[in-house]
Amino acid sequence: MTFDRKIKIAPSILAADFANFGAECEAIEAQGADWVHVDVMDGHFVPNITFGPATCAAIRPHIKGVMDVHLMIAPVDPYIDAFAAAGADVITAHVEAGPHIHRTLQAIRAAGAKAGIALNPGTPASAVEPLLDMIDLVCVMTVNPGFGGQKFIDMTDKVRALRGLIGDRPVHIEIDGGVDPDTAPLVAGAGADVLVAGSAVFRGGSVGNPAPYGDNIRAIRAAAEGVYA
Ligand code: DX5
Ligand code: ZN
Repeated sequence: MTFDRKIKIAPSILAADFANFGAECEAIEAQGADWVHVDVMDGHFVPNITFGPATCAAIRPHIKGVMDVHLMIAPVDPYIDAFAAAGADVITAHVEAGPHIHRTLQAIRAAGAKAGIALNPGTPASAVEPLLDMIDLVCVMTVNPGFGGQKFIDMTDKVRALRGLIGDRPVHIEIDGGVDPDTAPLVAGAGADVLVAGSAVFRGGSVGNPAPYGDNIRAIRAAAEGVYA
């Protein structure tokens, strides 16, 4: 994985056909996705359950690029090695998931993955400040995590504050929740470079008819690049 601040579109397979993850990952990459975003939920940290490391390992051979694993689970630490072994390039944990986020980030890097930290809408940018030199990505949640298809919560000020705190460090700012061609410019203009989108990528398409995925990805990218500073 190389670092850059170009806009990257990361479709969330939470909005894909769960019976067809391999083919869905191949379809979105063929249609222009930069990263594949994988939402892991435990029914405890968030009120929904998706899947775990075995599913991540199963889909890994179907992803050529970056596999971006977003852990919405608590505790995190007992499962880090399993997600790294499953082939995650980025492992993101929530700062709200436990009392020892510093230890968690150390463990993610020790396992050989890039370390991400996610902030719920109610958590301030300042929570990341002591951790800036141990992260590769900060994920700003623009919905309360747990479900796809929710309404975007404007976190533009938080994104701008994080961009200032990050300075020249090679740390991505990722936005997750309610991203579409209308909301993408707000966060891209504030300094975000990785845009996760579930519903707005998968709507209208399927494995059998993947062209709408490409149209949707291009629409989000164009909207974001129009304002990206
Ligand atoms: C929310 C997940 C997101 C979400 C994105 O808990 O982390 O990745 O599914 O889906 P949309 O784009 O539909 O809001
Ligand atoms: Zn996510």
